[in-house]
Amino acid sequence: MDWGMKNRISRIISPESGRTLMLAVDHGYFLGPTSGLEDPRKTIEPLLPHVDSLMLTRGVLRTSVDPAISVPIVLRVSGANSIVGEDLSNEAIIVSIEDALRLNVTAVALSIYIGSRYEHQTLKNLASLVNECERYGIPVLAVTAVGKEMTRDARYLSLSCRIAAEVGARMVKTYYCEDFQKVVKSCPVPLVIAGGRKIPEKDALELAYRAVKEGAVGVDMGRNVFQSSDPAGMIRAVRKIVHEGSTVEEAYATLNLKV
Ligand code: 5RP
Repeated sequence: MDWGMKNRISRIISPESGRTLMLAVDHGYFLGPTSGLEDPRKTIEPLLPHVDSLMLTRGVLRTSVDPAISVPIVLRVSGANSIVGEDLSNEAIIVSIEDALRLNVTAVALSIYIGSRYEHQTLKNLASLVNECERYGIPVLAVTAVGKEMTRDARYLSLSCRIAAEVGARMVKTYYCEDFQKVVKSCPVPLVIAGGRKIPEKDALELAYRAVKEGAVGVDMGRNVFQSSDPAGMIRAVRKIVHEGSTVEEAYATLNLKV
């Protein structure tokens, strides 16, 4: 691995702890003004001091994030669909490598949809993106298993994550499931988990706790942070679990939730 690639990965995954806390706010690329992200700047700014990286689209990056920040950016570069469209899996690469470089991103992210109608297309997207990004030392994060009503079990997630790594993703984002260790074991690159739909805060913390205990390098959470009644408290609580070895109880006790 060359210096640039290593340097960028180490800006996302702490070389000291081997862990990462990513904040995902890219949902608008197919969901539009998602609840909690109607005014992205207002949501993002108070959370920035607590995160290791920020995953978002170029539109939100340009309009809603101060260019003077030092938080590494993971830029979503796949899209061209919507929640009301024909098929969520019908994605393309929608950002050029030149624009990603101009935006000084640390990594790029793209979704693959294993078992969907557009599986082949999304895997070709991943392969093309990896080919381009390897040239410049930019890591590609592959996002697996979004949207489709697939059974998100260890068998399916292992299949998806392994294929992503085989095609060349440097990191994979997936979902927590029963027997998660199986998914981790069969994936040769670091895994982070998404939080998924909003669930009670304690359950989301439990999810983060189990995922890192069972081998994920961290979390890339969105809705369970910014849709909480205490978003800053929630990101700090997840941080305690990911980086400080806190238990769920200890992290939960720090929240100041509105009832
Ligand atoms: C959607 C994504 C989102 O960033 C991802 O789902 C993470 O957010 P959440 O924790 O809200 O699930 O990649 O394709």
